[in-house]
Order: sequence, then C-alpha cells, then structure tokens
Amino acid sequence: MKVVHTKKGAREIINGWKSKGQTIGFVPTMGYFHKGHLSLMELAKRKADKVVISIFVNPTQFGPNEDYEKYPRDIERDLELARGIGVDMVFAPKKEEMYPEETKTWVQVEEITENLCGRSRPGHFRGVATVVAKLFNIILPDIAVFGQKDFQQIQVIKQMVKDLDFPVKIVMAPIIREKDGLAMSSRNTYLSNEERKSALCLFKALELSKRLVMEEGISEVATLKERIREFIQGFPYTKIDYIFIGDPENLKERERVELPLLVALAVYVGDTRLIDNMLIEG
Ligand code: PAF
Repeated sequence: MKVVHTKKGAREIINGWKSKGQTIGFVPTMGYFHKGHLSLMELAKRKADKVVISIFVNPTQFGPNEDYEKYPRDIERDLELARGIGVDMVFAPKKEEMYPEETKTWVQVEEITENLCGRSRPGHFRGVATVVAKLFNIILPDIAVFGQKDFQQIQVIKQMVKDLDFPVKIVMAPIIREKDGLAMSSRNTYLSNEERKSALCLFKALELSKRLVMEEGISEVATLKERIREFIQGFPYTKIDYIFIGDPENLKERERVELPLLVALAVYVGDTRLIDNMLIEG
C-alpha cells in the first residue's frame, strides 16, 4: 500500500495506473476508521481496479465552535486497517498541502444545502463540496463511494458532480450499525456510558417512523414528526437539532406521507451531535 502526503506524489501514482487503463475507486475520509469506513473501501475494491482513500480532517467544513481540534485522529491505526482491506494508495495530506493559502474559490451547492445539516451547520457543505472537488481533481476517480449516514452530503456531491461535469460515478453504501442499531460514527467515541445508551434513540426513532408509516398508516407528516419528537425527548441527555421528513431527492419537507420518504435526524446527546437516517420505500 502506497502512502503519499503530497498532490504531486498522488498524481504520479494515479497517472501510472491510468496509463495502464486501470480504473480508480475513491473513498474520501476524515480518518479514525470504524467498520463503516472499511465497508466503503470494500465496496470500492469490488467496483474498481485500484482503491484510493484520502485521510484528511478538512478544516473548512467545521464551524468556529465545532470539533475540528478535538476530532479523533489515529493515522497509524487507520493505515493498518486500510492495509488489511487491500487499499492501494492512501492520500494523507497536511492542511498546508490542501490549503497552501487562503482559499478564494469555493464550491457552493444551492437549495439542497439549505435544509437539515445545512441549516444547523452554516458553511459546512461549502467546505465539503470544495474539498471533495479538490480531491476529485487530484485523484481523478472513476467511482467515489460515500456512506448513506451522511445522506445530505451524498445529494450535495451528486449535484456538484452533475453541475460541474466531474466524470465520476457516485456510489452510496449502506449505513453500518453497531449490534444494537447505533449508526457507526467516529464521533461515537465522545459519548459517556450513559450517553451511549441514550444515543440509541436515533435508530429507535427511525424504526418507530417506519412502523408508524408502514403499519399504522400515518399520513400527516406533522403527526409523524410529533410522535418522533416525543419519543426522542423520552431519552435523557438528548436535545433535538432537527427531524426532517421529506423528499429524498430534493430534500424538501413534505406535508403528507408519500413514499419514498426520507426520515433524517440530528440529535445532541450530551455535547455530541449525532445524525442518522432511514429511507422508507414501498
Ligand atoms: O464524510 C466525510 O468524512 C467528509 O465530509 C469528507 C467527504 C471526507 C469530506 O471531508
């Protein structure tokens, strides 16, 4: 497995593979791997000749009061895990390599960034779209794999790829969960034992939504939302950031339940903000 820290180093290796006609599957990450990340790499391996991952905690997608500084990092462990999967190249740049000077060009995807996480984390998707565009220009992947847990992120990237004509196919990989249902996330490490128990409210609320729609036939989104709100509020240490129930494509809220339906949640458990979602289909 090759580990490179510079754009030049990455490009040389990529050019070598491309000249032999090999396809590239790319998984951009911020490191501190869990099984969710590894599943993205495995999927990329099945779909392309070479698998490249990036490990970069991107400062431009964190707000001033967010967890950029304390975001968990363990590059040596990450490299071991990536090696175990059979990743071909890891691109792990320093901040100065990705942002040698103050960025004056940003990628701003409109409309679908206004709701959900875009509302509670202003500037977040501008940072994500900008760094992913830069990474796509460095790695030149044929496919790029993203996890469903960040559902809005995938829609933003898909929109960017379409609008800016990036020749890359975006693949969505399913959410990987702990045994009890909690969606895997690097931020789960912030949770105390008591908070970890409450964190399960997200998955349970999603399951409840599915039951209410599919079995009880709830048809008003407002009623569904209220039931979910009451349910989550029953768990200690929780504070709801948002409950989104709407169209999975354009991420607009709906008034009436209509399939397919996206239920997406962001909930603070203690100081840790967790997200999760479920697509309810026919
Ligand atoms: O999902 C993530 O880990 C990040 O948002 C990404 C896509 C690597 C961009 O920094």
